[in-house]
Amino acid sequence: MSISPPPSPTPNPACLGIYDSGVGGLTVLRELRQQLPDVPMHYVADTAHAPYGERQPDYIIQRSLIVAEHLISAGARVLVVACNTATAHAIAALRQRWPELPIVGTEPGIKPAVAASRNGRIGVMATPSTIASARFADLIARHAGAAQVFSQPCPGLVALIERGELNTPALTALLTELCRPLIEAEVDTVLMGCTHYPLVQPVLQQVLGDEVKLLNIESAVAQQAAKQWHALGLGHQAAAIPTLQTTGSAEALTRFVQQAFAWPLQAQTLQV
Ligand code: DGL
Repeated sequence: MSISPPPSPTPNPACLGIYDSGVGGLTVLRELRQQLPDVPMHYVADTAHAPYGERQPDYIIQRSLIVAEHLISAGARVLVVACNTATAHAIAALRQRWPELPIVGTEPGIKPAVAASRNGRIGVMATPSTIASARFADLIARHAGAAQVFSQPCPGLVALIERGELNTPALTALLTELCRPLIEAEVDTVLMGCTHYPLVQPVLQQVLGDEVKLLNIESAVAQQAAKQWHALGLGHQAAAIPTLQTTGSAEALTRFVQQAFAWPLQAQTLQV
């Protein structure tokens, strides 16, 4: 087995590198900005190749390696895979390529869901590709215990969210259809196993009903990334404005962050 060299030092200042197929990872970036307000962050939305969740594993691995390479050359000293689908299929390849780089993944929190459920019936909403992955099957095998897990693939949901449909009749109709099997299964806890889904949490909660607990993992991912960052001992930087790049439309991403987060940030186009 060949050992890859450590990430080479770049002239760029150290930053946290974060990526997702699109706008979903911004829910992780929001948590990261709260927990590490003084750390420079560089976010890539691989929008031209989204949704990852309806792609083949090899494609997701290839895109992840390309985007990570770009982030590392931009100064990333910790990489956050702010995407459940990319974590499921590509995190092993990333760790193999850059064994020295701290890489934090995003995975559905089966363990906290089991702890939160009273009736032992848990729903997981995620992309078709996450649900089909061996890593997801392994997570359930390791952490579900006696709880019953009802997995719900959500084709089409990421595409709607990417279009900025965060509260439209089309979104409500799709969520109603996707949640029906979970409601019929009488789950009392539902995990949002895709970083896009917290962006539509209010509508999702309305469709599932108030008595269902909705859980996400973004804050725990940010905590893990913060731990890795502090371990590097880089000290505090000046208050930082994140860099946002997209392989799709910079105007659309700029509009989205303004609409969904009220962040007055200007996104840039990235060609990789
Ligand atoms: N945000 C990604 C995830 O957490 C999903 C997306 C996609 O299908 O592109 O799985």
